[in-house]
Amino acid sequence: MNWKSITLLFATIVSSITVTEISAKNVKIDTQNTSLVLEAEKGKKLRHLYYGGKISENDAAALRSASGKIYSAYPDYGMITMPETAIAMIHSDGDMTLDLVVDGISSTHDNGADITTVTLKDTHYPVVVKVNYKTWKDKNVMETWSEITNNEKSPVTLTRFASGYLPIRSGNVWLSSLHGAWGNETRLTEEPLTRGMKVIKSHEGVRNSRFDHSEVMFSLDGKPQENTGRTIGAALCYGGNYKLRIDTDETDSHHFFAGINEEDSHYKLGKGETFVTPPLALTWSDEGLSGVSRSFHKWGRNHRLAHGDTPRKVLLNSWEGVYFDINEKGMANMMKNIAAMGGELFVMDDGWFGVKYPRNNDSAGLGDWTVDTRKLPGGIQGLVDEAKKNGIKFGIWIEPEMVNSKSELFEKHPEYIIKPANRKAKFGRGKTQLILDMSNPEVQDIVFNIVDTLMTKYPEIDYIKWDANMDIENHGSQYLPADKQSHLYIGYQKGLQNTLQRIRAKYPDVTIQACASGGGRVNYGILPWFDEFWTSDNTDALQRIYMQWGTSYFFPAIAMGSHISASPNHQTHRIIPIKYRTDVAMSGRLGMEIQPDDMTAEEKEQTKRAIAEYKQIRPVVQFGDIYRLLSPYDEKGAASLMYVAPEKDKAVFYWWKTRAFRNEILPRITMKGLDPEKEYVVHELNRIDTKPLSFEGKSFSGKFLMENGLEIPVNHKLAKKNETDWSSRVLYLTEK
Ligand code: GLA
Repeated sequence: MNWKSITLLFATIVSSITVTEISAKNVKIDTQNTSLVLEAEKGKKLRHLYYGGKISENDAAALRSASGKIYSAYPDYGMITMPETAIAMIHSDGDMTLDLVVDGISSTHDNGADITTVTLKDTHYPVVVKVNYKTWKDKNVMETWSEITNNEKSPVTLTRFASGYLPIRSGNVWLSSLHGAWGNETRLTEEPLTRGMKVIKSHEGVRNSRFDHSEVMFSLDGKPQENTGRTIGAALCYGGNYKLRIDTDETDSHHFFAGINEEDSHYKLGKGETFVTPPLALTWSDEGLSGVSRSFHKWGRNHRLAHGDTPRKVLLNSWEGVYFDINEKGMANMMKNIAAMGGELFVMDDGWFGVKYPRNNDSAGLGDWTVDTRKLPGGIQGLVDEAKKNGIKFGIWIEPEMVNSKSELFEKHPEYIIKPANRKAKFGRGKTQLILDMSNPEVQDIVFNIVDTLMTKYPEIDYIKWDANMDIENHGSQYLPADKQSHLYIGYQKGLQNTLQRIRAKYPDVTIQACASGGGRVNYGILPWFDEFWTSDNTDALQRIYMQWGTSYFFPAIAMGSHISASPNHQTHRIIPIKYRTDVAMSGRLGMEIQPDDMTAEEKEQTKRAIAEYKQIRPVVQFGDIYRLLSPYDEKGAASLMYVAPEKDKAVFYWWKTRAFRNEILPRITMKGLDPEKEYVVHELNRIDTKPLSFEGKSFSGKFLMENGLEIPVNHKLAKKNETDWSSRVLYLTEK
């Protein structure tokens, strides 16, 4: 990851190197397998002509004749008033119109990417809008964003500022989107697009993916299919309030807009200032939903998440094992146990800090990041040393953007919190939690210093779990002036980005997990500075199949924290055997979230074997191509997916029974993504059966596996006393 290449809100953009004077002209922007074609005639509107599979220059030149209605590529409000628009502003003289026309095109290179910029100028006011498209030759994702510059003598007010717009020809177009709630994040919804406006948005301020996601897919050929059909994927790369709009009106197209949510966020742009919108990442695939996922995963690993090329360690996190009951003996015991099971990292979660206000529960201590030596007499250094003794790495939990009213920080600096000027602050978790105002540079310094102090004192810290457990629930910045209170949400995210950028500049190597009450920060806006996210506070393996399925639409397994936890599960109370819990966790970034002392010797032994086997398949899971095969949402009694190594010499196949009815015939799964010519040896991992599977050790051609698949037995063959209704399989396929 090159952090410098991440576009920050309001950052100065690399200046263009070539400016082409244009007359009537089509601009074709290609990725590996896709093309976007724009009509960019000087003095005229920028027009969208095409987005889809890669086309030739000849086809591009003749596009207009093959098109229906042609739409503006970045619709502006004012001289056209009825349709939805991407941008709107109030000029310094009160005028509410924009009339943007093409002024020039330029191209530049940035860290292996090509950036094409179309400069638009208003025909009357000195307002300039640059529309950018960033591509990589070996990727299929394209990023688009705009830069809005005010050259008027006084401030203008931006009232709408989408990152991008795409018309999608109507027909039988279906939308796949991701929704949920705490403990039930990233559930899949599929629906045909019908007349009217579909809006997906967030107004949480701090984090944005617990309820609704800023990523969607459009299936152009009817009901979404995993591995066939033309599909567009779109992800708004922003960590704050967003809004996706899909307007289906009287025209021949659905009109898709994505950007920062402008509600309660009208933005005053001073003279000479530039507002940079976050990128909207787009891809197109004719290999269905999974095809879009594969493109997003590749781009994500290479360009949009920290250390996407580095295998992740198998870890034990202390939270569900001990909650706030942190003490030296307990931590040492957990470290010993995870090391014995083959784990590589131990993460101490909440509860380790606070001197005047000890963090014994969630109502005190946030803000006071000093170790509580009553619990940990040897301090952090003692734990780091203990980890070293066990041959593992050490990680630590923080929630740096937050403070409790019961904290020394709040006592000293009540002015740092978010609250309306003339009202009392609203409390969150523990009835005392408050949010630090990240728009304030002094607060940014405090947050930077939390990480800086820890990392300077204990450079061996290998991993940070960065949590954020509150939304902005009352509007007010004690830092921003009265006429800029509407900048709160955007200012917060800008301040957070600046701080993360500073942290990464100084500490490029530490692994950082984005957690926000579970899956509240699963988005590509925040990921550039994070290696991974905590998928959900719900670790119930059955429910995780559904959540991880949705998460995998856009996010690769390498980033998806997926932990083996206790049974009965702490959130759902479901009793699930360790085999099934492990088989689900092994399909993401494997970890544990359990008190090892509560595991039986047999469970520990089985987990140890599973961790060793996971290490074998880790490169395939974490860097391979995903093929989702049978969706749990189809409710056919099972779910299945696989990862295939890029060289197609190895693959890992997962199968989980999702419900158990006697003599119900479950679908036979055909595999995908293999080389039809290659022979693959099948070997079951995390095996518990008393007898091997009938095809254990046998080899099959990729062609056979993809046309017929293997018959997966519905139940495990176990001693009578061990039988349950749970059943799952992990098969490792290696080229013969
Ligand atoms: C949040 C996180 C949990 C855990 C707790 C600690 O809820 O999602 O994983 O870290 O905070 O308080």
